[in-house]
Amino acid sequence: MTFQRHFLDLDDAQTPAIESLIARARQFKSGVAHATTRLRGKLVLGMFFEASTRTATSFAAAAYRLGATWHDFGAATSSMSKGETPADTMHTVRAVGADAIVVRHWESGYPHALAPHFHGSILNAGDGSHAHPTQGVLDAMTLVEEFGTLAGRRLIICGDIRHSRVARSSARAAWLLGAKVTLCAPPLLLPQTSPGWGFSELSTVLDDCLPQADALMLLRVQTERGDGTELPPFADLVEGYGLTEERLKLLPDHCIIMHPGPVNRDVEVAASLIRVQRSRIDRQVENGVFVRMAVLERALHHAA
Ligand code: CP
Repeated sequence: MTFQRHFLDLDDAQTPAIESLIARARQFKSGVAHATTRLRGKLVLGMFFEASTRTATSFAAAAYRLGATWHDFGAATSSMSKGETPADTMHTVRAVGADAIVVRHWESGYPHALAPHFHGSILNAGDGSHAHPTQGVLDAMTLVEEFGTLAGRRLIICGDIRHSRVARSSARAAWLLGAKVTLCAPPLLLPQTSPGWGFSELSTVLDDCLPQADALMLLRVQTERGDGTELPPFADLVEGYGLTEERLKLLPDHCIIMHPGPVNRDVEVAASLIRVQRSRIDRQVENGVFVRMAVLERALHHAA
C-alpha cells in the first residue's frame, strides 16, 4: 500500500494498516473520537472524471465532519478541457492551496501518475479496473462489525470481477484480515492474472459457493468498461450469477448480503432483496464516511 501521504491502492497493504484504519473509523463512528476541528483550514479537492454518488458524497461528508473545506474541482469544466496537462494542473491547484485531491478516473494508474507532481496528498477514489482502496477498507469494516474476527469466515465476491476495482481492493482487505475469499464469475469475467489480489479460490458456479458463505458480495456488471464483447448476455448473468429469491434459500441464515453500488436491479441482485434484513448495502455506504475520515486524517497528518 502506498500510504505515506498518498493513498493509492492496497496492492502492498499489510494487515496492521487495514486494522488501524478500521479502528480509527470505528472510533469516529462511535463518537469516541470527536472530529469537527481536526482538519480545520485544510482544502480537499474532489476531482471526478467518472460519475460517483457514494464515494464523492462520503468524501465530502468526511471532509466536512473533520472541519476541512471540500471543493468540487469540476474536471469537465476545468482548464484541463483546454489542454492543461495533469502535471501542470497539480502544480496549479497546489499553488491555490489544495492539501488533498480525491481522484477518480477511468484509466488504471491515473492517480499514481499524478502523485509525483502534487506536494499534498492524492487519494484514489477508483482508477479504471485497478483499485478502489477506500471501498476495500469500508467493506472490511462492515465485515468486522458483523463478525468480529474474519479468521475462517468466507466471503464470496460474485459478478463482473474482471472489470472490478472494488473486487481487487475488497478481496485483498478481507483476505489480509484472515477471511477466505472466493471469486465467482463466468470464465470470461474472472481475473486473467492474480498479482495484487487476495483470494483463496476461484469458482464459476455460484450455487456451489452459497452454502459456505458468511458474506456474499454481488458486483455490478460494468458495461462502461471494455468493448462489451467479453460480457455474457444479461439474461445469462442473472440465471447463473444473480441473487434471486430462489437462490437466497441456498445461503446460511447468518450470511449477509453486500454490494458496493450502484445496483443493477434485477441483474446481480433481485430488487426485492436489496434492503432485506440481512442486506448490509446501506451500512457499507454509511461506513464509507467514517473510513474516509480516517483516510483523510491520516493522509493530511503525513503531509503536514
Ligand atoms: N461504490 C462506489 O464507488 O459507488 P459510486 O460509484 O457511487 O461512488
